[in-house]
Order: sequence, then C-alpha cells, then structure tokens
Amino acid sequence: MKRIVILGSTGSIGQNTLSVIREEPQKFQVKGLSARSNIDLLEKQIEEFHPETVVITDKEAGERFLSRSLPLIKSGVKVILGKEGLLELVRKPEVDLVIIALVGIVGLLPTLEAIYAKKTIALATKEVIVSAGTIVTEAARKNDVEILPVDSEHNSIFQALRGHRSAEIKRIILTASGGPLEKIKGDLSDITPSVALRHPVWKMGKKISIDSATLMNKGLEVIEAHHLFGVEPSFIEVVIHQEAIIHSLVEFKDGFISAILAFPDMRLPLHYILHYPERVESSLPKLDFSKIERLNFRKPDFDRFPCLKYAYDALREEGTMPAVLNRANEVAVNAFLKEKIKFGKIPEIIKRTTDLHQVVKDPSLEDILTADRWAKEKAESFVVKGSGLNILKNFQMFIPDP
Ligand SMILES: NC(=O)c1ccc[n+]([C@@H]2O[C@H](COP(=O)([O-])OP(=O)(O)OC[C@H]3O[C@@H](n4cnc5c(N)ncnc54)[C@H](OP(=O)(O)O)[C@@H]3O)[C@@H](O)[C@H]2O)c1
Repeated sequence: MKRIVILGSTGSIGQNTLSVIREEPQKFQVKGLSARSNIDLLEKQIEEFHPETVVITDKEAGERFLSRSLPLIKSGVKVILGKEGLLELVRKPEVDLVIIALVGIVGLLPTLEAIYAKKTIALATKEVIVSAGTIVTEAARKNDVEILPVDSEHNSIFQALRGHRSAEIKRIILTASGGPLEKIKGDLSDITPSVALRHPVWKMGKKISIDSATLMNKGLEVIEAHHLFGVEPSFIEVVIHQEAIIHSLVEFKDGFISAILAFPDMRLPLHYILHYPERVESSLPKLDFSKIERLNFRKPDFDRFPCLKYAYDALREEGTMPAVLNRANEVAVNAFLKEKIKFGKIPEIIKRTTDLHQVVKDPSLEDILTADRWAKEKAESFVVKGSGLNILKNFQMFIPDP
C-alpha cells in the first residue's frame, strides 16, 4: 500500500487525485489532507478517506471546523491549524508520497520540508519550481528524492524521457491549448473574469485558469521545464495545439521526436504518478482516433500575450527574477479575480514590477523569500495605483462636457 499525503486536497488537483485513489482503495492509504478554508469538502473527504491528520491553514475556518465537527474529531482525526501544520504533515514518518497541490508560492517551504524528510514528491504547484527551481532541484538531488511532475506537459516529457538521459535532448516543445481568449479577436484588455475563467479544454482552479488565459501558465511551464529537465531556454519552445491531445514533445539530438498523447484529463497523469514506477490498467477515458480528424499547431502570439515573453525574459535573467515574476503575477491575478484591476493590467503590473527588481544572482532561499516579499509589496502598490486610475476614468465618464 502506498501511503499518501495531499496538500491542497480540496482543490482541482487534490480532488482529481482522490478520485483516482477512490477507484483502488486497496492500493492507497490517505495519511493526511490539507485545505485552506473549504471545510465542507474537507469534512466529506475525512469521512470517506479516514486520514490520520488534516491541516486547515486558514485559522478562522479551522476554528469553525473545530466547533462544528466534534464527531469527526472524536473519531480520531488529528487537526492542525495554520500553515506550519503543512510542514508537520509532510514530515510524517509513515508517508511514501507527498502530492503538492497548493496554489502559489505557499507551496515552497512544505515542498522543501518534504524533500528534507526524503519523501517522493508529486509536484503540481509549478510556482514552487518557478520561484526556487535551482534550490528545490539541488535539494532533491542531495537528498536522493525523486520529483514526479504532475503538470500534463511535464508529466509527458518525464514519460518520454524514461530510458533516456537529459543530455540526449535537443529541444523540448511544450504544447498549449491556447486558453479561452486565443480565438477572441481584437483588444483583450477589458475581458471579464467570467470570460477569462472559461477554459475550452481543462476544468481547473481559478488561478491557473487565468494564467492560461494570459498564457503566463505556459511561461511558468517553460521555467519549470528548464529546471526539471536541464534544458536551456533557447531550446524550449511553445506551440499552440488547441486539441490538447499531444501533451508535449521531446526532440532528441539525432532528430527523432517523442510525443505523449492522451485524452485531456488530469486524472491520467495523476494515475501515472500514483502507480509510478508501474504502469497499470486504468478505466479513465482513452483516445479514439476515429474521432480525431486533425491535430493543429501554430505559433503563439507574443504581442497579444506578453506574459509568455516576460516569463522567457525572467528565465534568461535567472537569480531572483523568476520569483519576482511569479509573485507579481500572483498579486495581479488575485486582484483581477477580485475585479480590482482590468485584464490588461495583469501584464502591466508584472512588467512594472520586474523592471524595478535588482536581481540577486545565485540566490539563497532567504534571497528568494526576500525577493518574493518585495515583489508582493511592489505589485500590490501598482494594483492600488491602477484601481485609482480606473475609478478616476469611470468618474470622468459622468462629468458633463463643459
Ligand atoms: N487544476 C489543474 O488541472 C492543474 C493542472 C496542472 C497544474 N496545476 C497546478 O496545481 C496547483 C493547484 O492547482 P488547482 O487548480 O488544483 O488549484 P485550486 O483548485 O485553487 O486548489 C488549491 C488548493 O490549495 C489550497 N490553497 C489555496 N491557497 C492556499 C494557501 N494560501 N494556503 C494553503 N492552502 C491553499 C486550496 O484550499 P481551499 O479549497 O480550502 O481554498 C485548495 O485545496 C497550481 O499550482 C496549478 O498551477 C493544476
């Protein structure tokens, strides 16, 4: 039996992981779960999967859980409140696999803690590798820990590379479905959250859905691929492939290309990871080639989707720049979802923040965390200034002409 901890079990990846586990309860034992504030769903997950420990990071939600879920607590589940609980959860001695499915930089310290505790990691939270790629991959190497990528693109590259060495790779081609805005003509700056959240292929959490709309998601994945597979930025390409059937391509030095194809369903990479290194039968949806008329590919439009370019720029700058890019993006996306800024402000806030950053080369963990805090503050100041301008604009609309 594999013993599993899931950080972010109430999210899209967390729920997909549990739905794979649900099919084979004899193979997996859920040891720990975590949520930020969705205690309704967490309660249901505790009743079904009987974890020993759960962490609720939002203390207010945690207090509510404690006051209303007495029967569950009496049944023996240990409840820890606050972010520090995530570190305790991943250190649990009797755990084989830690699934990191939190959203954002909050995943960094628990990921490192799990690596120091020598747990195999299944990493969905790309922001961790984007912000501190060298530190995380070095820690994994030193502690002899395997990082299994969950992102469908990196998972497929990981699969394509089985039996190969990174030194044999010539080029990585990351496919992108293009997100919900690819086909919308004209100016995108006033797109609303509800339109930007409507992804044509994947059903995901809100943050990654907006990242897909700006193509920042693909930019973050370029940085992630660089760290996971040791390929230089100029040999990582992005191609729009709307059908999302080829999950990525690896070109080897002799010119052969490996592609991994599968039905676009996140339960497939999760099934692969949960059973790794075995490959076993799954009842998940399969591709039917009689229904696939054609597969399309085209270049991304870097002018309409500048976030992709900013991610390449940050990767080339290296040091603390990717961490700053990541945090500025987190702040901007959050502000957009709360309707504090317009869609067009997301790339603007990222650019203004990264332009002001003094890069620290070969950063320590402390340098990364300092850069992250700096970027949060700076980007938030642009959100405030930006929303002020919008209010002024709206106000002016109602001033009658002299
Ligand atoms: N969704 C996908 O198909 C997909 C595919 C590839 C990669 N990824 C990556 O996987 C990660 C998770 O994505 P998702 O779509 O599953 O996100 P999501 O649906 O928003 O779920 C995030 C999970 O993390 C918890 N969480 C959020 N903020 C937190 C915080 N500040 N502290 C502690 N816990 C927090 C949430 O708890 P509550 O529910 O209580 O708020 C939830 O359990 C992201 O990095 C994303 O880029 C996702």
